[in-house]
Amino acid sequence: MSTPIDAKPTITDLLARDLLAPQSLQQARALPAQFYTDPRMVALERRAVFARSWQLAGHLTRIPEPGDHLVTESPGLPVIVLRDEHGQVRAFHNVCRHRGGPLATQDGCGARRLRCRYHGWTYGLDGVLRSAPEMREALDFDPAQVRLPALQVRTWQGLIFVAEGDAPDFDAFLAGIAERLGNRRFDDYRFHRRVSYEIACNWKVYADNYLEGYHVPHIHPGLNRVLDYRSYVTQVHDWYSFQYSPLESAEGLYGSGEALYWFLYPNTMLNSLPGRLQTNRIVPLGVDRCRVDFDYYYPHEEGAQGQARRASDEAFSDEVQDEDRLICEQVQAGLASGSYEPGRLNPLRENAVHHFQELLRAAWRRDSAA
Ligand code: FES
Repeated sequence: MSTPIDAKPTITDLLARDLLAPQSLQQARALPAQFYTDPRMVALERRAVFARSWQLAGHLTRIPEPGDHLVTESPGLPVIVLRDEHGQVRAFHNVCRHRGGPLATQDGCGARRLRCRYHGWTYGLDGVLRSAPEMREALDFDPAQVRLPALQVRTWQGLIFVAEGDAPDFDAFLAGIAERLGNRRFDDYRFHRRVSYEIACNWKVYADNYLEGYHVPHIHPGLNRVLDYRSYVTQVHDWYSFQYSPLESAEGLYGSGEALYWFLYPNTMLNSLPGRLQTNRIVPLGVDRCRVDFDYYYPHEEGAQGQARRASDEAFSDEVQDEDRLICEQVQAGLASGSYEPGRLNPLRENAVHHFQELLRAAWRRDSAA
């Protein structure tokens, strides 16, 4: 039977509705393989998950002056984040209202206008079209009526978040995290650099893997020496989960203290160790491919000692990331093999995986009911 051309596909066109039913932690099974392998999931998740979420876009210190801008995306939607003439941070679709070209293709500073590189339509920093070359013969064409669609913008601890539409209440989204930071102040940190990794797995495979320390003793021998696995705790909250552990044997690298890891639904991680913040954001590049952006932030520290500390931190993180990348790609192959049936989750060690997958099921139920 053919689908009417105006019918909106929903996840229940792909999967049985009972796969979306809530599961208790003690009885939970992992998501079925189709959620990670069916190419139609990309468009469905764009609408049901990402268009209704807060996306981490960067740090305020990266756009200190008017016209400074960051090029990013809400997965599937190109986005530009900028500081306007009045110092206000704004975010717009990075999609020209003429025929879809980009207003910017890379981060920049001091721009007075946003000029589309395709035919030169030029917008103010408020997103309103100011000029369009050779359009005199277009009837009833008023540039002032042409605007780049805006996104919601909120900031927290110096971090900039944007949302396309119906996202969770922002205060509820992050409630309780600042209190747990103690004397760590992310707004005092400075951006150091970004390292991006492309991984041959569905974005949720990477998220699932991040969300449990269950694999740490098996996959990460180096990290396992730094963390105290016996004291590793995982808590879940409304919109995020939180993993923490005392640091062991890390005096040379991070000093003593705690490793604090937050996963903000659906695709952002804040990894805080003494003297550094690393943010990760997973961006789907297709059903079986994703990119993970690692941004490194440190308190201001001049000199060779700070440089050496940053280099060691990056090298250690890179080692852990290589181990994660390999297992995630192997898991994706297993999910795509046709062999896999959803296995039982470990209630003690995989409560955050369960929490994430329950939030996804809720998002898909809501989308299929809309
Ligand atoms: Fe932007 Fe034509 S697409 S000016």
